[in-house]
Amino acid sequence: MNTPSEYIANNKDRFLSELLDLLRIPSVSARSEHNNDMIHCAEMVASRLRAAGADLVEVCATAGHPIVYGEKIINPNFPTVLVYGHYDVQPADPLELWNSPPFEPMIKEGKIFARGACDDKGQMYMHVKAFETMMQTGTLACNIKFMIEGEEEVGSINLGKFVVENKSRLKADVILISDTSMISMETPSLDVGLRGLAYMEVEVVGPNRDLHSGVYGGAVANPATILAKLIASLHDENNHIAIPGFYNDVIGLTQEERSDLNAAPFNQNEYNDDLGIATEWGEKGFSTLERTGTRPTLEVNGIWSGYTGEGAKTVLPSKANAKISMRLVPNQNSDTISRIFSEHFNKIAPPTVKVKVTAHHGGEPYLTPTDSIPYLAGSKAIEATFGKKPVPTRSGGSIPIVALFERELGLKSMLFGFGLDSDNLHSPNEKYDIFNYYKGIETIPYFFKFFAEMQKES
Ligand code: BES
Ligand code: MN
Ligand code: MN
Repeated sequence: MNTPSEYIANNKDRFLSELLDLLRIPSVSARSEHNNDMIHCAEMVASRLRAAGADLVEVCATAGHPIVYGEKIINPNFPTVLVYGHYDVQPADPLELWNSPPFEPMIKEGKIFARGACDDKGQMYMHVKAFETMMQTGTLACNIKFMIEGEEEVGSINLGKFVVENKSRLKADVILISDTSMISMETPSLDVGLRGLAYMEVEVVGPNRDLHSGVYGGAVANPATILAKLIASLHDENNHIAIPGFYNDVIGLTQEERSDLNAAPFNQNEYNDDLGIATEWGEKGFSTLERTGTRPTLEVNGIWSGYTGEGAKTVLPSKANAKISMRLVPNQNSDTISRIFSEHFNKIAPPTVKVKVTAHHGGEPYLTPTDSIPYLAGSKAIEATFGKKPVPTRSGGSIPIVALFERELGLKSMLFGFGLDSDNLHSPNEKYDIFNYYKGIETIPYFFKFFAEMQKES
């Protein structure tokens, strides 16, 4: 029988072409015109799980997009790893900024360019191929369960219900997720934190219709101007968030935690050059890594009002809108923050306009201890394939369902990401390095091996 590395080497090309097939399906969860693509994609994931050796594979219907479940129980006395991932992707627009079509994967300089290449089809599929590898080489050391959802990018709206209704089926010892990033291939890292999210939408309404800006302008408050002012007031001159009570529940890091975090290799000039910005920005008193990993933030995600078409139109708009999201850190709560935001925004609105604030999805922050068995097994696995210990990092992103897993299933999640922040997640030209894809497939079996060993010892 082959060793896992031999098996991966012998099946490399197929492992890649199968991923490309998956990337050709435009599984955009946010758009109802893709509903059939979602089903098609879920079915492809299910059949690939079956082919890899999973039992009880099922495409589970939900009120939204289906969840794919599958498992392989080799020995009820062995520990069980529950693999979570998502097959849905973000919309690809603006399409004109892609160098090749988002759903026609293109390989250039060893990288796969396609929507979902990294987030999360490429990373999720590493687990399917690692599972196949362990099955075919007789090395599967834990029971394995797969739960692959199709609504992560739209807030996992129906996954919570599925989890609550399937508690016994989902029984496991740890959740393993590859949906985050590493510092670099030279400096492997493991995320120990995720931020939470509170996503709001605001509408500022002035006159009952769009007006001629010459006839009425200067005499009627312009909702676009008011919205701009309101938004500008949400940060103070030190870039702290100026919403009373916003920081109440934030627990500051100890000096030791801060210096550990800032010990991770990071070059501010390279960061700025990569983004084409002259200089960084952020909350006074914190480094870039602290700002994204440990501090709550508030961002405008979209803003619109009045005339935005070609040429000029003299109009005083009746309405102005914005989508505003806040990233939260441990001990903050998304419902509380949504409420505080809503109260504040209503309070600061001048009497010349009416405002309406609504909450979209949210999610709680997450932190995992570096002295836990999953972290230690993950660290040892990385060491086995990268030749060095990973650095613990805190990610700025969110996977809201991770906190729910802990609450409902009592399970910790191990974040085992192999992407890079520069992989253009949610942006045009998303990519995933083929090297990272194979590296992930090679590293995952080590996690299973070390996790099984450490669980038995404990
Ligand atoms: N995989 C990302 C989250 C992520 C990316 C974490 C990079 C760490 C590093 C996930 O698919 C995602 O995009 N999450 C959303 C939240 C969701 C509710 C739409 C996010 O972070 O904006
Ligand atoms: Mn993702
Ligand atoms: Mn995403």
